[in-house]
Amino acid sequence: MTKGVHTARPILEVSDLHVRFPASRNWLGRPTSHVHAVNGVNLVVHAGRSLGIVGESGCGKSTLAQAIIGLAPHAQGRVAIDGQDFQAAQGRERRALRQKMQIVFQDPQSSLDRRLPVWRLISEPLHIRGGYSKAQLHAKAEQLAVSVGLRPEQLDRLPHEFSGGQRQRIAIARAISTDPDLLVLDEPTSALDVSVQAQIINLLLRLQRDRGLSYLMISHDVALVRHFCDDVAVMYLGQIVEAGPAGEVLRNPRHPYTQTLLAAAPSLESPLPAIAEARTGELPNNRRLPASCFYKERCGQAAEGCETPQVLRRAGARQIRCHLALG
Ligand SMILES: Nc1ncnc2c1ncn2[C@@H]1O[C@H](COP(=O)(O)OP(=O)(O)OP(=O)(O)O)[C@@H](O)[C@H]1O
Ligand code: SF4
Ligand SMILES: [Mg+2]
Repeated sequence: MTKGVHTARPILEVSDLHVRFPASRNWLGRPTSHVHAVNGVNLVVHAGRSLGIVGESGCGKSTLAQAIIGLAPHAQGRVAIDGQDFQAAQGRERRALRQKMQIVFQDPQSSLDRRLPVWRLISEPLHIRGGYSKAQLHAKAEQLAVSVGLRPEQLDRLPHEFSGGQRQRIAIARAISTDPDLLVLDEPTSALDVSVQAQIINLLLRLQRDRGLSYLMISHDVALVRHFCDDVAVMYLGQIVEAGPAGEVLRNPRHPYTQTLLAAAPSLESPLPAIAEARTGELPNNRRLPASCFYKERCGQAAEGCETPQVLRRAGARQIRCHLALG
C-alpha cells in the first residue's frame, strides 16, 4: 500500500450525499418526520487505496455504504464510479457500473443464501451478468475460490458447512467475481475470532496488491483502520468531522470528537495525550438535527462560535469540521 502523497485517479467520488428515512407518516401516508442518517457526505477513494470510515454505532456508516452502492432508496447526492455518475445511470449502464463496486457485509451467514452450493454463490454475480455456461461458471468459481484460499473440492458444499472465516472468504470471492474496482467492506471482520480476523485482513491486503483494488472499509476498530487504510474519515451524526491520512489523523486527532473516540479506543499501540473533558453520552436524536455544530451538546471544548453549523475545511493534508481545531 502507498501511504504517502498519491496521484492515483479517483475511483469513487461521493458529493453531498444525504439519506433520510421516513420515521412517521400522516393518514395520507406522507412522512411527517425523518431519521437523518447521512447528512451531506463528500469523500473520494483513489485507485488502489483504502479509505476507512470510523464512528460510533448509529452514526450512519452502514447507511452511507448502502447508499454508495445503490441500496438506499432515499439517497440524494452524487456518487461517481471511475468518473461516471452512478446515481443518474439507468438500465444496462447502471448494472455495468454496479459491477465495478461490490460490498462485503459483517455477517456472511445472513448475506449468503444458505440453500445454494458455494460454487453458485461465488459465481452468482457472473450468472446475473449473463453469457456464461454452467461449466464456465463452475470453472470461474474454482479460480476465485483458490484465489481466496478455499479448496476447489469444497465448492459443492452449502455455506453452513464452513466456519465463519471461510464463509467470509466465500463472500469475498463472490465480491471480486465481477473484477470490480472498489470493494465496500462493512465491518468485514468484526464477527470473527481475533486470529481469523488477521487472516481475512491479510487476504484483503493481498487481493488489493494483486488486483489493484480500492477499498472503502467501515470499522469500529481504529487500530485496524490505522494498519489497513491509507486514509480515514471520522463520522459523527451522519457527517464527516475529520478526514485525512490515517496515520496522521489517528496519531494526532484534531477534532474534539476524534479525540474522544480515540481516547475510548483501548487497542491503539501508543497512548494518546490525556484528553481533558472528553465527554461521552448518547448520540443526539437524529430526527431533529442541531442548528449548531452537530457535536456541541457533547463537546467539552464548546465555546463562542459553536452555535453555528460547521463546515469541513481543509488544513494541510486533512479536513476538519470545527472552527477551533482549525487553529
Ligand atoms: N431502514 C431504516 N429505517 C429507519 N432508520 C434507519 C434505517 N436504517 C438505519 N436507520 C437509522 O439510521 C441511523 C444510522 O444507522 P446505521 O446503521 O447506518 O449506523 P452505523 O454507523 O452503521 O451503526 P453500527 O456501527 O451500529 O453498525 C440510525 O439512527 C439507524 O437507526
Ligand atoms: S465547533 Fe465547537 S462544539 Fe463543535 S467540535 Fe468544535 S469546539 Fe466542539
Ligand atoms: Mg453499521
